Amino acid sequence: MSPAAAFFEDIWVMVNDGVYEPAEDTFMLCANLDTTSADTVLELGTGCGLVAIVAARTGARVIATDQSSLAIQNAKSNVAFYNLQNQIEIRQGSFFDPIKPGEQFSLIAFNPPYLPGTTNDPAFDPTWSGGKEGREVTEIFLSQCSKYLLPTGRLLLIQSTLSNPEKTRKYLERHFHTAQIKVEKSFFFERLLLFEAIKPISTSSSKKL
Ligand SMILES: C[S@@+](CC[C@H](N)C(=O)[O-])C[C@H]1O[C@@H](n2cnc3c(N)ncnc32)[C@H](O)[C@@H]1O
Repeated sequence: MSPAAAFFEDIWVMVNDGVYEPAEDTFMLCANLDTTSADTVLELGTGCGLVAIVAARTGARVIATDQSSLAIQNAKSNVAFYNLQNQIEIRQGSFFDPIKPGEQFSLIAFNPPYLPGTTNDPAFDPTWSGGKEGREVTEIFLSQCSKYLLPTGRLLLIQSTLSNPEKTRKYLERHFHTAQIKVEKSFFFERLLLFEAIKPISTSSSKKL
């Protein structure tokens, strides 16, 4: 199959076979990044790189990662097309493995695979299948992300009503300084939520119980 194209505002990207095609969740994240040139961003699971490109176009510096070599190749070519190699660094690896010791970010953005689905399902696709309840990737991410945020840094995380977002809300409220649903929108089979959480200045001011 030939590559597909996707766009957000004036940014067009190519989407190769085997790479997640930007959809409503992607566009919800793109529209609510609120980045500036002061931001250092980690976009985890970048896919074709659209979210990273949108952030970089606001002047932010971005590290974009993905575990999939197809995604890495695709994101690199889209980033090169926009001549943003000096602002976006692309690294391959799972979760925070590609992050160097001491690296921290003012924003971590993740549109994870959040739909219920396991490797036993014929339709399994690692770009959107998040384990039996759709929460496996989200929960590993949540348990590790705080360490990679600067004090007062922001987390933006897409979730769906198909994978128990209440658990995410409770986790964020317990472990972050503030947590809110920044935006939500219904589609015909699910409701998408974008969570925003702010890391406390120091862990002593955390709401952790
Ligand atoms: C739903 S897609 C989102 C892609 C893109 N960010 C977007 O919004 O269009 C999830 C992406 O996360 C990647 N991914 C899944 N598990 C991952 C992991 N453990 N570490 C890094 N990336 C992962 C997938 O390869 C896929 O590209």
